[in-house]
Amino acid sequence: MDDLIKQAADVLRNAQHVVCTTGAGVSAESGVSTFRDAETGHWAKFNPEDLASQRGFAANPGLVWRWYMERLYGSTVVARPNPGHDALAQLEKIVSKFTLVTQNVDTLHEQAGSTNVIHLHGNIGHFYCNACRTDYELRDEDRSADTPPLCPVCTGMIRPGVVWFGEQLPTAEINRAWEAAESCDVILVVGTSGVVYPAAHIPFLAKEHGARIIDVNPDHDTIASIADLFLQGPSGEILPQVLATMADGIIS
Ligand code: OAD
Repeated sequence: MDDLIKQAADVLRNAQHVVCTTGAGVSAESGVSTFRDAETGHWAKFNPEDLASQRGFAANPGLVWRWYMERLYGSTVVARPNPGHDALAQLEKIVSKFTLVTQNVDTLHEQAGSTNVIHLHGNIGHFYCNACRTDYELRDEDRSADTPPLCPVCTGMIRPGVVWFGEQLPTAEINRAWEAAESCDVILVVGTSGVVYPAAHIPFLAKEHGARIIDVNPDHDTIASIADLFLQGPSGEILPQVLATMADGIIS
């Protein structure tokens, strides 16, 4: 592993534009559950269609509302960035150009100090009307409500500002992510199972355009087999080692 860390540090040190794409795994060490881990992932316990789709929301809006409130207040707002988030924020300061594309709906990258962050799947702390799309500011009483609050403008149901299955990703964000993937020379893939499209296509797109791939994951995920370097382990341990090795090579 030491040799792989050194190789990754060399590749990143010589890069002109690094794109980092992250998934739920980067926040796992902050106490935020992933989706597909066998024991603890959300989708090991629930059907995604029931909780993250228009069909599920129409069928049982209260269930969906309570689940998002539990995720938001039970783990997301109390979570703090872990050393993996910190290392990525540091990396942004070191390399010439750095673009972070995340599928995560938390803001732990920003809290760690990352500035150029593209959120493909929205933000769990934002709310808007499912009918007229007017933004909505959450009130204290909404946290423990059994059903979603109603829109003051049109009485439609309020929903979380996350992208559900079957919905379009935000156009500006996906365009920026695609441009970054096509123009980067290194793509660092961290903590994603790589099975949800279009986000999962980003490393393949970058590779098609000549980028080298570094993958960080405790499991042999879908990207590991096409990666130039696969660093197997938790990102909160691996990424700080890569950053420390990069710093070792700098003459001051
Ligand atoms: P997944 O739950 O599918 O995958 C999490 C990945 O993180 C797995 O490959 C784990 O092996 C890895 N992992 C676990 N612990 C880790 C650690 N400490 N360090 C690094 N990696 C670790 O989550 P995503 O790939 O993010 O979308 O899922 C993609 C999308 O599917 C989510 O954005 C969400 C979900 O349904 C929507 O809800 C639209």
